[in-house]
Amino acid sequence: MSKKILLSGVKPTGRPHIGNYFGAMRQFVELLNSGAYECYFFLADYHALNLIQNAALMRQNSLDLAVDYLAIGLDPSKAVIYKQSDVSANTEAAWIFDTLVTVPYLERAHAFKDAESKGREVNVGTFNYPVLMAADILLYDADVVPVGQDQKQHIEYARDIAQKFNNAFGRTFKLPDALILENVAVVPGIDGQKMSKSYNNTIPLFATKAEIEKAVMSIVTDSSSDLPVNVYNIHKLFKSQVELEPIYETHKGKYKILKEMLIADIESFIAPLRERREKIAADVKNIHTVLAEGAERARAKADLKLAEAKRAIGVS
Ligand code: ADP
Ligand code: TRP
Repeated sequence: MSKKILLSGVKPTGRPHIGNYFGAMRQFVELLNSGAYECYFFLADYHALNLIQNAALMRQNSLDLAVDYLAIGLDPSKAVIYKQSDVSANTEAAWIFDTLVTVPYLERAHAFKDAESKGREVNVGTFNYPVLMAADILLYDADVVPVGQDQKQHIEYARDIAQKFNNAFGRTFKLPDALILENVAVVPGIDGQKMSKSYNNTIPLFATKAEIEKAVMSIVTDSSSDLPVNVYNIHKLFKSQVELEPIYETHKGKYKILKEMLIADIESFIAPLRERREKIAADVKNIHTVLAEGAERARAKADLKLAEAKRAIGVS
């Protein structure tokens, strides 16, 4: 029996943080290593183009994210690792799907509504974001898509789009399911809001010791309570509640000591990842080879599916 297909992507928009890791990327590694899935992981550079319109920065971020993928343990001999833009079938399928969805349907997407409510003029790429994402997923026959909670609606859009296509043209696309870890669905940032690159409240995944110290020391604490909730909620990612409870009981109200303990725990978690990343980053040629080989394998898969869709709609 063939394995289930797992696929996910991350936008190359800057250094990943522990929210990205615990919310999404860690699952990638665990699910890959479980051996239960045929895995595809890509860099969503065309999605990032909505935000990054600078060639040098785009190149650097993409290279960095590929290194990050390898450093967290995504093994290119076990998974297909590639750039979204290397597979033209993705954007071609997005056009086909564009003809199946309505403007009011896309206007209900959270990301669009957020951008609009901030009074920004939304570009068509941002408006169409869920359609390209549906193509990313559906062309690979993905069964499961591990993501953070904020991407749940996008996976529902991909399911809807698959269903719309199948209803119109006959069964062609599989309906994917989101895979969300409920206990880390939203990792809080150092200000207690959702950790996000856009809010400047992150702890970078490959942070230096000094960066960890600076971030943890700036975690916002509320002096009206003995338990520094924001410190505790981040600490929970690195130690179990059973281990943490006596520590927070003994050091009740002593925020500085608790923060120092959190720094030590984060540092012992990140240090080996950071060292691994440095070694991988030193071999740029290898990263380009990984992406080139991944692109070839991804194209082979996506092109076949696109050909099937083109037959179904009557253009070939
Ligand atoms: P950011 O908000 O920092 O720009 P992205 O939108 O690039 O993050 O998200 C990349 C992946 O990480 C997505 O699957 C997303 O759901 C997950 N993710 C991002 N921030 C968090 C968070 N604070 N908690 C849990 N998962 C997160
Ligand atoms: N939208 C996702 C994010 O912001 C990135 C992404 C693009 C993605 N295409 C995808 C994730 C397909 C999973 C599957 O994180």
